[in-house]
Amino acid sequence: MTRLDGRRIIVTGGASGIGRATCALFAAEGARVAVLDRSAAAAEAVASPIGGVASAVDVSDAAQVAAAVAKAADALGGVDGLVNAAGIFSTAGLMETTPALFAQTLAVNLTGTFLMVQAVAPLLLASGRGTIVNIGSGVGIMPTGPGSTAYVASKGGVIAMTKALAMELAPTVRVNVVCPGAVETPMTASFLRRPDGEVDKLVADRYALKRPGSPEEIAAAILFLTSAESSFVTGVTLPVDGGRTFH
Ligand SMILES: NC(=O)c1ccc[n+]([C@@H]2O[C@H](COP(=O)([O-])OP(=O)(O)OC[C@H]3O[C@@H](n4cnc5c(N)ncnc54)[C@H](O)[C@@H]3O)[C@@H](O)[C@H]2O)c1
Repeated sequence: MTRLDGRRIIVTGGASGIGRATCALFAAEGARVAVLDRSAAAAEAVASPIGGVASAVDVSDAAQVAAAVAKAADALGGVDGLVNAAGIFSTAGLMETTPALFAQTLAVNLTGTFLMVQAVAPLLLASGRGTIVNIGSGVGIMPTGPGSTAYVASKGGVIAMTKALAMELAPTVRVNVVCPGAVETPMTASFLRRPDGEVDKLVADRYALKRPGSPEEIAAAILFLTSAESSFVTGVTLPVDGGRTFH
């Protein structure tokens, strides 16, 4: 018996980083996974070795979301779980954030999460054992410093929306948000490590555990919130951040 035996789960942003690690872990735990991402080829490269299905989608586009969710539900024979890991990052501060950059960041990170939840919710309600795990960010709880205006706003929105969704979809569907600290993925490759390969000291010193996390450590928390082990947990904001936001 594995922790996700027979569960049918959609993972957005599944082609890279945290989403990719989540797809691999979920498959190892017995789930059938639909890998959704911008590039069909990149999604297929993750789905194929784990016996999953792949779909191209821009999560900020309602029509594409509806089509990709319908395709995934058809291939999986229903949907029991959703993980919203698709996201884009920006370090731009207030004066560097153009209206277009602000709108695009919210369109993917916040509206994209909303569109996916809206499209998948009827399937999760029908399944009777639905779960949603959104991916926020530690900076949505407490920024690390100046900058990232649009990104922080988008992640704060994901955290707040998760609580509203947990209320609205209860008692049938549980909805929680995982808030990672700095995690080694393509998103953070440009600033997490110095040219000599060492973790940047300024980054590491923000963390009680003095290091960034791995995608697998975030996937483990997402697994907990998707599996029956968290059957009495909903509406929770779970920092998985090496102690950055408590100290
Ligand atoms: N890496 C970190 O340190 C960190 C920290 C906190 C939160 N997060 C969040 O975790 C999530 C995953 O990030 P990651 O670090 O794995 O990044 P990543 O760049 O490795 O993966 C993000 C994935 O999302 C996909 N994506 C982007 N825009 C999309 C769109 N419009 N439609 C569909 N897919 C799209 C990308 O193609 C990519 O595969 C993001 O929401 C990110 O904001 C990451």
